[in-house]
Amino acid sequence: MAHKLEPVSSTAGEPADDAGQAAFDRIIAADSRIEPRDWMPAAYRKTLVRQISQHAHSEIVGMQPEANWISRAPSLKRKAILMAKVQDEAGHGLYLYSAAETLGTPRQQLTEDLIAGKARYSSIFNYPTRSWADVGAIGWLVDGAAICNQVPLCRASYGPYGRAMVRICKEESFHQRQGFEILLELAQGTPEQKQMAQDAVNRWYAPALMMFGPPDDDSPNSKQSMAWNIKRFSNDELRQRFVGMMVEQVEVLGLTLPDDQVRFDEESQKWEHGPLDWDEFKEVLAGRGPCNAQRLERRREAHEDGAWVREAAAAYALRQRNAQEQNEEVA
Ligand code: 3HC
Repeated sequence: MAHKLEPVSSTAGEPADDAGQAAFDRIIAADSRIEPRDWMPAAYRKTLVRQISQHAHSEIVGMQPEANWISRAPSLKRKAILMAKVQDEAGHGLYLYSAAETLGTPRQQLTEDLIAGKARYSSIFNYPTRSWADVGAIGWLVDGAAICNQVPLCRASYGPYGRAMVRICKEESFHQRQGFEILLELAQGTPEQKQMAQDAVNRWYAPALMMFGPPDDDSPNSKQSMAWNIKRFSNDELRQRFVGMMVEQVEVLGLTLPDDQVRFDEESQKWEHGPLDWDEFKEVLAGRGPCNAQRLERRREAHEDGAWVREAAAAYALRQRNAQEQNEEVA
């Protein structure tokens, strides 16, 4: 689906190039892909670095709420599954940092921005995981919302991003199923277990809906990102689609959504939901959510603890390079 393209002017920092601009416009209009060596407007590059790096940070910080339960998982099997899932998130972060690097932004710089508190990551990961059922609710709701948002990104116009998203979405599907299965088991367990599952769904539902970003009227980036075929749907469109998916699945779980205003509007053919607390969303984005400080502190500690690994890897790479250069000289 090609969107009508508004003329894009290159901005300072990227040499203007009429031929490059024309080629870029043609590729976007044909709904084809921009690759790293292609000319692109500076604003397109900047938007991609912004979105991809925020996404990468979300995957890395998102390891924390669930890692909180690895040592307390209720069985060896659950522990193994959860460890694999948390490792998958680290892998997603790596694919995405690599995609951002193809745009000329070193991962080290992105990481420094994150630990300095200058970069955004998803609001959802600033909420605490209070019970084992939260691991189920994260898998079902949070990974479910991630899939709904990210499947269209597999068709993003920037090649390395779209290709990374294909791999990520495959793994997210497994994540969502494991979350659903945890909740199903709890919902079919004792009354206390069922209540624990319902309580987790009650707490994660609204923050999961906010993952899709602010309402369309309040989303400064959507229009241009959609014109560039980076985003394919607006924030509200994806949020509404997600609510519809959850309505069906929550019935199978035997639980309820904490929203008595959910309904399908026949006229617009869209799902509607109750109001969301956008003041809370803004607070979380401003760094004042329940766990913002803790999440950043842990990330900083982990980064410092990993310094020796980075140094060892850099020393090894240097030795390999020197050895290769010597071999080339001999030859
Ligand atoms: N949390 C934090 N910041 C958010 C946000 C959220 N849920 N939603 C929007 N924002 C920020 C935007 O980044 C933007 O800030 P900036 O201009 O300073 O960069 C501002 O709020 C305005 O929002 P817009 O709607 O204009 O921004 P976008 O057009 O970029 O849309 C988005 C926001 C829908 C999140 C889009 O960036 C996107 O689709 N990103 C890729 C997916 C992603 O990053 N998901 C994060 C979750 S990752 C995950 O879920 C991991 C999995 O393992 C569970």
